[in-house]
Amino acid sequence: MRTKPEIVSSYTEILGDISSQRTLDVATCDGHFIDILRQGLKQCGRVVGIDISKRFYEPGAAPFSQSNNAFCLMDFTNLAFQPECFDMIVMSNTLQYMTDFMRTIDQILALLRPTGWFLISEMTSDAQTDEQACHRDWFVWYSSITRLLNLDTIQSMLSRHAIMNVLQDLNMTEYQTFIIRGKRDDRQQAVKRYQSLEKQGTRLLDRVTDAMIQSRYRKELNGILDRVVSHGWQFADNTVFLGRKTRLILGERTHYDAMT
Ligand SMILES: C[S@@+](CC[C@H](N)C(=O)[O-])C[C@H]1O[C@@H](n2cnc3c(N)ncnc32)[C@H](O)[C@@H]1O
Repeated sequence: MRTKPEIVSSYTEILGDISSQRTLDVATCDGHFIDILRQGLKQCGRVVGIDISKRFYEPGAAPFSQSNNAFCLMDFTNLAFQPECFDMIVMSNTLQYMTDFMRTIDQILALLRPTGWFLISEMTSDAQTDEQACHRDWFVWYSSITRLLNLDTIQSMLSRHAIMNVLQDLNMTEYQTFIIRGKRDDRQQAVKRYQSLEKQGTRLLDRVTDAMIQSRYRKELNGILDRVVSHGWQFADNTVFLGRKTRLILGERTHYDAMT
């Protein structure tokens, strides 16, 4: 795992002179974002990364073997930490896994001390180029078929607006947004991309037992692959929300609407 230097420098600029002694990285995967924090924060103390799966966790690997960091196997809907015990909480490409993200974010932010920082970085579906629309369509197709096959719980790609609405409803109004542009494939990379999507897609289709459902998914996949040939491929932009938990009012809301 090595994060591209241009990504690290974007986050370093965004984080400015923020320091954190105790940070929570929600859905840490292989600890990829912990590396960004170590390089981007002015001072970075202990980082605890939690994830529901150990699939990508390598015991003794760099992000968790440094500065007293730790990996915990934990579900983000049921976090076992004391309230207000973190200086900073990071959710990077994590909201796409939440079925009720208003409730889940509220519970997660209860672990942040009153003047602590939150950083949400999420692939978003707004203002797409034609090439980015290929990524979005693939993402929607992939999340739908992997849910159908019970292979993953990924939901879909969110819009900036959906995230802003949730933050507003949670009274989190003190934040700035930044856009990190998605990388565009050159011609050679686009050919490899096509081949890899076709392979990955066919492997998933082979696992669908219902012929009618399989044919519907195949048709959709072929449409996406055709668009990759005609437009190329660019990853969706990431929208970063960086703010302070200054006015979170807990206990006033008794029910939440699930966002879809
Ligand atoms: C797209 S990865 C994000 C990884 C990392 N945050 C990053 O930016 O590179 C999503 C991660 O969410 C984890 N995940 C999904 N549902 C979860 C849950 N309920 N609780 C904790 N982690 C979860 C998955 O296991 C996966 O590692």
